Amino acid sequence: MPAAPWDDGAAAKQLFVLVTGANSGIGLGIGQRLIDEFAENRTSPSDHLIVITTTRSAAKSRQTTDLLRQYLEAQEANAVAAKSTLHPNRIHLASIELDLCNLPSVYAAAERLRSSPLSIYTGAGKSASSPHQLPRLDSVIFNAGIGGWTGIAWWNLLTNVLFDGIPQATTFPTCKAAMGGLLVDPLTGKEVKGAEDGAEKNGVLGQVFCANVFGHYVFAHALLPLLRGTSERSTDKASRSSAIGPGPARIIWESSVEAEGWKNLSLDDFQAIRTDAAYESSKRLTDVLALTAGLKGVAPVSAPFYKADDGDDSNDSDEDTTPATYVTHPGVVCSTLFPLNWFYFALYNLAMYISRWLGSPWHPVTAYKGAAAAVWVALQPQPALDALDAQHVKWGTSTTRDGTTLIKRSEVEGWGFRGLVGEELKATSVDSTTGQPWGEKGDPLAAMFPYPSYLLNSRGRKKGASTLTAERRQEFEVLGRDCWREMERLRLEWEERVSKAHEASQS
Ligand SMILES: NC(=O)c1ccc[n+]([C@@H]2O[C@H](COP(=O)([O-])OP(=O)(O)OC[C@H]3O[C@@H](n4cnc5c(N)ncnc54)[C@H](OP(=O)(O)O)[C@@H]3O)[C@@H](O)[C@H]2O)c1
Repeated sequence: MPAAPWDDGAAAKQLFVLVTGANSGIGLGIGQRLIDEFAENRTSPSDHLIVITTTRSAAKSRQTTDLLRQYLEAQEANAVAAKSTLHPNRIHLASIELDLCNLPSVYAAAERLRSSPLSIYTGAGKSASSPHQLPRLDSVIFNAGIGGWTGIAWWNLLTNVLFDGIPQATTFPTCKAAMGGLLVDPLTGKEVKGAEDGAEKNGVLGQVFCANVFGHYVFAHALLPLLRGTSERSTDKASRSSAIGPGPARIIWESSVEAEGWKNLSLDDFQAIRTDAAYESSKRLTDVLALTAGLKGVAPVSAPFYKADDGDDSNDSDEDTTPATYVTHPGVVCSTLFPLNWFYFALYNLAMYISRWLGSPWHPVTAYKGAAAAVWVALQPQPALDALDAQHVKWGTSTTRDGTTLIKRSEVEGWGFRGLVGEELKATSVDSTTGQPWGEKGDPLAAMFPYPSYLLNSRGRKKGASTLTAERRQEFEVLGRDCWREMERLRLEWEERVSKAHEASQS
């Protein structure tokens, strides 16, 4: 195998990022934004970015890599016109197939990333790919997803707009019509009809649950050998603040601003099969899993998920080898996620801009802008994330009226903005780790994004939301423990089912 094109510098100067569902919408925006922000912030020619996208077919993967190479070429042409350069040969692209509703495909994709060389394209231009083995992954961005919606519930739309106003109705809509009972056979990835009762007995899973949460969950666990970080990075603490590669690897989930709260996630219908709010349930579950993973009452239950099955325990005592989990959301973006014909899509697009002009902070509208929060988490130096206690916040993409992008804390029912009981709405004044004021320098987020009125927790809040109480915070942690327990049970069960199906197919 030829030497990898990124091997001209230290491991800490290379950044490996994987993005799921990258052939369209926000996923493609994440790929483009990674290229732009990396090129802007890491200007040394020996800094390398390796982006691995996943799509549902070989053709979509080829197309995605082509689109990103064309994008890189166009950005480099702009840079050259401005008498600069991005040094495009330090950007490397690869793409693999992954269907999150087909668990054998999920295991196969993880195995391929761990053990086989990938076809890597370097730079813009039309040069051929060359095969290289990935040494690790620094961030995985779990963006792929489906809505499971069927159309618009017009009466709900009308009452939503009349009683709650346009910004609320376009941020927390009640008008999305969906059918309950969407199921999938995860051994084949095929939709299954009419097996709502006894779903598990029949060997099926809730389709939206599987695409949005469970497939990613299984994938993350299977990727753990690549998500361990490197000893070079974990021992060299002094240089970590300026290094590209963060300390621990990062699992970054894409949730939704409208993940809603308690009502949408029930342990009695964990896979959201009997509800018509399967999407909202899957995003609520995403929030709960990500925000509670490391809490005292949850960590013993979540620990097996973060322990790789490859039997290599050599690094278990080093905290940097356990990936850190983060949750983000893109705000509201006009994409193909919600099924609309061209006419309604145009009206929808207009309504989103009106919301932004009316002062909503949650309307990036375009996929490129919506990609900001996930990319920001992937590219921040570890000390910057730690100073913000970033694992305990749901980070949303926000935009000002004129479309300037910023990153903002979002509220989660039962968790508030940072898990702080009774947190002031104006506040970004107290450090959640110490409970003390941030100090003279103030909230580090305000230093990064100088738009104080947009950073206010009260801005863009859901109508009727209430300040976090100690009881709700406790309930949230208990919910987290129960959800992690069920996810782990399902992971082990399906690992066995997939393995048995594989053995049966071999005999
Ligand atoms: N748009 C918004 O306003 C909004 C708001 C909040 C959160 N989000 C979240 O942002 C993410 C991206 O959404 P989007 O708006 O960009 O939607 P999108 O344009 O429809 O993109 C969804 C992506 O997920 C892929 N995907 C769907 N099912 C999959 C499966 N079973 N296995 C693997 N990949 C699968 C799709 O692949 P195919 O092209 O093959 O179908 C596509 O690449 C989703 O998680 C969504 O919930 C979006």
